[in-house]
Amino acid sequence: MNYENILVEQRGAVTLITLNRPKALNALNTAVLKELIDAFAAFDADDSQRCAVLTGSEKAFAAGADIKEMESQGFASMYASNFFQGWEKVTSTRKPWIAAVAGYALGGGCEVAMMADFIIAGDNAQFGQPEIKLGVTPGMGGSQRLTLAVGKAKAMEMCLTGRMMGAEEAERSGLVARVVPAGTLIDEAMKTAEAIAAMAPLAAMATKEQINAAFEMPLAQGIAYERRLFHGLFGTEDQKEGMAAFVGKREAEWKGR
Ligand code: CAA
Repeated sequence: MNYENILVEQRGAVTLITLNRPKALNALNTAVLKELIDAFAAFDADDSQRCAVLTGSEKAFAAGADIKEMESQGFASMYASNFFQGWEKVTSTRKPWIAAVAGYALGGGCEVAMMADFIIAGDNAQFGQPEIKLGVTPGMGGSQRLTLAVGKAKAMEMCLTGRMMGAEEAERSGLVARVVPAGTLIDEAMKTAEAIAAMAPLAAMATKEQINAAFEMPLAQGIAYERRLFHGLFGTEDQKEGMAAFVGKREAEWKGR
């Protein structure tokens, strides 16, 4: 697929996906979604790729769903097309991926960042769910994922007032894993992605599956699920290799099987 709205680059075992609609501050329209679905599916299917980074520009990760695309729609067209359908394909990516956020991450932009396994923020990042100012609500998971990340009080305040949250507050509130100087964002995100890419791929995938299960399952069920995945990894060559390498005081060489 030829991409017009994103750039995709493989750097070693890390896929760097950059949103590239600068004139619209990377607003997320249907074309962007189609390209992201394709890029994430290609990343997931490529055995040479082990972690991905999704980023935008220094001014905007993404300023939201494309308001110009939605403005003239009515209930029937939104409902019939199940507007925003397809984002669940992005969230069903099985390999780990990081959102590297600088500048505005608003509305759908904040929601896509929250779809990542974690967010690394530049110190100029601004997160927000300002849909209420447009007469609507979050529609790509913001009311749920923001609440899970920062708790009811801040999620309510942000969604009801539309105010933005800066990078420091976002880190303090649990929305982002780490804040770095905006100028070093890509380097820092790539370093983190490379560290993940150097781990046993099946264990990385299973880790992601376990942690995501915490959002879907009661504790006892989540712990049983974790244990089964843990047991399952004992059927892999990488478990033998990882433990033999530790005991033999050498670096492990992962095979991904
Ligand atoms: N959709 C479409 N176009 C957008 C956009 C969006 N979400 N955000 C910015 N743009 C466009 C602007 O229309 C403008 O285009 P023109 O030059 O053709 O006029 C261009 O990007 C630059 O934007 P600004 O001139 O507004 O830039 P600024 O620096 O003055 O302000 C901003 C930046 C504060 C982010 C402002 O652009 C803004 O408020 N954007 C909208 C934010 C928003 O409401 N997001 C939520 C969208 S709804 C949603 O996402 C629903 C959901 O849950 C999924």
